[in-house]
Amino acid sequence: MAGNSNLHDSSRNKQDEFYTNLQLIEDELDNYRAHFKGKRVLCNCDDPYESNFFKYFAMNFNSLGLKSLTATCYATSPVVFTQLDLFGKGEIVKRKNAPKRKTPYKIVITEVGDENGDGRIDLSDVEWLIRNKKNVLTELKGDGDFRSAECVALLKEADVVVTNPPFSLFREYMSLLMEHGKKFLIVGNMNAVTYKEVLPLVMDNKVWLGNKAGHFWFMVPPHYEEKATDFKIDENGQKWRRMGNICWFTNLDFLKRHEKMLLWKHYTPEKYPKYDNYDAIEVSKTADIPCDWDGYIGVPITFMQYYNPNQFEIVGATESEGVGFSFGLWDSSSEVAQPLIKGVRKYKRIFIRRKKGVTK
Ligand SMILES: C[S@@+](CC[C@H](N)C(=O)[O-])C[C@H]1O[C@@H](n2cnc3c(N)ncnc32)[C@H](O)[C@@H]1O
Repeated sequence: MAGNSNLHDSSRNKQDEFYTNLQLIEDELDNYRAHFKGKRVLCNCDDPYESNFFKYFAMNFNSLGLKSLTATCYATSPVVFTQLDLFGKGEIVKRKNAPKRKTPYKIVITEVGDENGDGRIDLSDVEWLIRNKKNVLTELKGDGDFRSAECVALLKEADVVVTNPPFSLFREYMSLLMEHGKKFLIVGNMNAVTYKEVLPLVMDNKVWLGNKAGHFWFMVPPHYEEKATDFKIDENGQKWRRMGNICWFTNLDFLKRHEKMLLWKHYTPEKYPKYDNYDAIEVSKTADIPCDWDGYIGVPITFMQYYNPNQFEIVGATESEGVGFSFGLWDSSSEVAQPLIKGVRKYKRIFIRRKKGVTK
């Protein structure tokens, strides 16, 4: 259970309020449709009225064959209690004269039929359910913190968790999912791969990257500062910020994960120098991985987008967080954690090795 200080930290940490756009969700979710049939989906960092995750699953409830959809909102979200136009055609925008709510709430949907009798089944039926059916929208007892007892109880009941969790709590979020053995698809920063809570999971193939990764636009609340770059305001007055190195973390299998990377470069000691302080060769671009080197290779974290567990194994990462990640590849007498080439420091690396028996 989160104490008050955590709650206040999170509300102070403005970097947590990045709302995911519908297109990004639709594009990614397309890769995993089969995983959702008959499943109970939970979006536990998602005010249903501000979250396109809730909107996506509500819209696709029948086509995915969901058993249920639950979304919970968090008390300190800056837009909570100001209902947004969830049922509009495009992105969620603030609804004029929005009704005010007083406490965080959850929405649980178990079926979507032609509730309003207009001859079609669509989002307006979800809206009808929320407005008219008892027990669809209910107030939470606490603040909606994903770590609170009532939210953990909802987590235990769920089959698949899908959301963009607060970045500042990513480690805790991931640990909670693993502790409860949940299937998940969540947005995060790619650098999280090297967190001590995440790297062992990636090495054991318990967690991997989803399909899309890169620089993505997120909606941000009105009080977010305007910036010269990676910032825009759209025709609705909605502020957007572009975030780099964003990816999906998941344990749902999908096709691209099994595609083999085509390698055509050949090893030469000149092109692929060995680190001064790690027992591996330096490859600064994933596409340059040599097809004929069987030893250890240091690659940038972006390699994870192309990682196929049948082609490569991940054997470690550069030392950081006061924890040894390189599993013996680091010559600790160098006293420098970053990989060095002729004394020049390189950015954080993941170490990989071609799987034995895999053809070039
Ligand atoms: C990155 S935003 C994403 C919101 C939404 N999931 C989306 O993708 O549009 C993370 C959300 O988590 C909420 N949040 C922050 N701390 C939380 C906590 N401890 N428990 C649940 N939600 C939290 C924030 O208020 C914010 O709305």
